Amino acid sequence: MARVVITRPLPGAPEELLRSAGHRTTVRDGVMPPSPDELRTLAADAEGLLCLLTERVDAELLDACPSIRAISNMAVGTDNIDLEECRRRGIAVGNTPGVLTEATADLTFALLLACARRIIEAEAAVRTGEWRTWEPGGWLGADVGGATLLIVGAGAIGTAVARRAEGFGMHVLTAGRDDELLPLLREADFVSLHTPLTEATRGMIGSTELAGMKQTAYLINTARGDLVDQDALREALELKLIAGAGLDVTTPEPLPPDHPLLGAPNLVVLPHIGSASTSARVAMAQLAAGNLIAALAGDAMPNGVVDPAA
Ligand code: DGY
Repeated sequence: MARVVITRPLPGAPEELLRSAGHRTTVRDGVMPPSPDELRTLAADAEGLLCLLTERVDAELLDACPSIRAISNMAVGTDNIDLEECRRRGIAVGNTPGVLTEATADLTFALLLACARRIIEAEAAVRTGEWRTWEPGGWLGADVGGATLLIVGAGAIGTAVARRAEGFGMHVLTAGRDDELLPLLREADFVSLHTPLTEATRGMIGSTELAGMKQTAYLINTARGDLVDQDALREALELKLIAGAGLDVTTPEPLPPDHPLLGAPNLVVLPHIGSASTSARVAMAQLAAGNLIAALAGDAMPNGVVDPAA
């Protein structure tokens, strides 16, 4: 029987799974994430930690919580966790891939369509009375069918986006880790990012890449905010170097309402809701619990990122 901490109440009550497996499980209450200080105190004697992408798991936290032997992140991305430090200390780390693939691909496509057809602006015009008549030249947008979509990072989510794009009659290009991005960016009408955030991918879309895109092209990011240099993006939107951008992820999150990026034209920003379908979030929480249950029993996590036994 281990002590487990869950950093916030989660859909589907995964604590029940942990309790059924015999673990003393505490769910910290509240909508907001714990501060680093609070988390250090909360998990001081925990052996298992079920955390979210809002929590930073670093050497400082691990020093303060010496009993931790298993960490399960309720996310596919693990950039909030110092994996190297966990590996060094023999701590198992897991994530929740697969179950959020379709929900995130749907949201990516929703953003792409919203940008292309100016859905957010058009809806606002109805509410503000700016909609005066059927205007032959009003709210003109870009075609999606027949356009070229470049998917950067053709893993599970990128591949699911490609499937949707094919259904819309788009021509799909993919860029993997070893591909040169600029020649592909030049061909794309839409560029969608689906690569994990690592030191190699941080800032991968900067002023050179944005300047290399077509002036009529759109950038969509549902992966991680830090993949994009946001100052360069703001400038590219202001100078109309690209036609627009749709972001589900930003740096920081939440983006303060007075953040300069929000002043840029032709930008749709969402509050990191890619995986926010009920079934995806319940499945993520259960997978995360399953990872902890396995590791605390001395088995490999079903979705392990760091396996101390390997
Ligand atoms: C993830 O899982 O990494 C997403 O960003 C949140 O669902």
